[in-house]
Amino acid sequence: MVDKKQRILIPGGAGYIGSHVVLCVLLTRRYKVTVVDNYHNSFPTSIERIEKIALDALPKDASQADRDACKVDLIKGDMRERDTFDRAFAQYKGDDAIYAVILVAALKAVGESGEIPIDYYDVNISGLVNLLRSMKEAKAARLVYSSSATVYGTPKTIPIPETSPLQAESVYGRTKQIGETIIKDTCDAYPDEFRAISLRYFNPAGAHPSGLIGEDPRGKPGNLLPLLAQMAVGKYREPGLQVFGNDYPTPDGTCVRDYIHIMDLAGGHVNALDALSDDSKFAQLPSPGKYKAYNLGKGKGMSVLQMIEAMKKVTGYGYPYKIVGRRKGDVPDLTADPSLAEKELGFKAVHNLEDMSRDLWNWQSKNPQGYGQQ
Ligand SMILES: NC(=O)c1ccc[n+]([C@@H]2O[C@H](COP(=O)([O-])OP(=O)(O)OC[C@H]3O[C@@H](n4cnc5c(N)ncnc54)[C@H](O)[C@@H]3O)[C@@H](O)[C@H]2O)c1
Repeated sequence: MVDKKQRILIPGGAGYIGSHVVLCVLLTRRYKVTVVDNYHNSFPTSIERIEKIALDALPKDASQADRDACKVDLIKGDMRERDTFDRAFAQYKGDDAIYAVILVAALKAVGESGEIPIDYYDVNISGLVNLLRSMKEAKAARLVYSSSATVYGTPKTIPIPETSPLQAESVYGRTKQIGETIIKDTCDAYPDEFRAISLRYFNPAGAHPSGLIGEDPRGKPGNLLPLLAQMAVGKYREPGLQVFGNDYPTPDGTCVRDYIHIMDLAGGHVNALDALSDDSKFAQLPSPGKYKAYNLGKGKGMSVLQMIEAMKKVTGYGYPYKIVGRRKGDVPDLTADPSLAEKELGFKAVHNLEDMSRDLWNWQSKNPQGYGQQ
């Protein structure tokens, strides 16, 4: 194993997806990681646990450089402030200079985004622009960007290819769509400097199998799987589970989503980092810049009722539920066509629904209060 490791900056690395991404990047033993986070929706405890998992995964004869690289540098900072990223880039020089950035940090709740749009644009757009400026000045212009399937709005074709029109229907989705546009424009304007990959996540779920890290949203979870996990440990059981609509054009009438195990999704970021170093991945693009977008999904749709059933099996909780009216903004089916990421990035989601529900329950049952029980 070569001991020369490149430094990756991961804003938002303390959060749910970010913590698993940091772990997967460390597990390659090819990189060192610096996280920037303001803990708006996370706890620094996640980083301590990542370091433990990464150290435990090393072989007994691992070098000191490998051990040192399991230590994550943590910078507390808000990406809305211009100097946050300047400080981060200035901290590392020469051989240790930041090589690439994986931008995970964002506000991410669809419903909330319509209530406080200025905050969403401030964090997700101003924060991104701050980052790009700092990257340009530091000449560290390789970026992997957390985008979302919400950029497709209500898609015409299922499974959804990357060529599907971008027509986000929520403020949150628009921040991701605009974010992608800003990044592409930047890559087009500076084709010799910038290269970037947007990863359009479908529905990440589950946890690392150790049960040490997982999803710990503040307040009542907005997503189905974390809600089911928390209900099983006794939270949010009143007023009972609501299933929004059973008259959609889907096999059982409830909404279908493409759930992807978080370790598969996180691993996709390592594929993207590798692709950023590979000129052939960016050859023959129609635009001048070096920008590409990929779906990260399993390519298999699961309905709300199927997910309830899967969680019932692992938790033993019955999930009494009530069918209520459709929820504004829900689309019947969001299933990815992940074949482009498979072909060009070598990405493949290998975990199944059983792995996902088992690992989610392992995390939740071991950490009923999330990281907050510390
Ligand atoms: N979870 C999903 O279902 C999902 C789906 C598609 C896309 N995404 C995207 O993936 C990314 C990560 O999502 P997640 O589920 O891990 O969310 P999360 O809230 O767990 O993680 C986001 C992290 O960003 C940090 N953060 C927020 N505002 C910040 C600021 N101003 N400065 C610095 N740090 C800040 C938070 O503290 C948190 O650690 C987001 O960009 C989100 O839009 C998530």
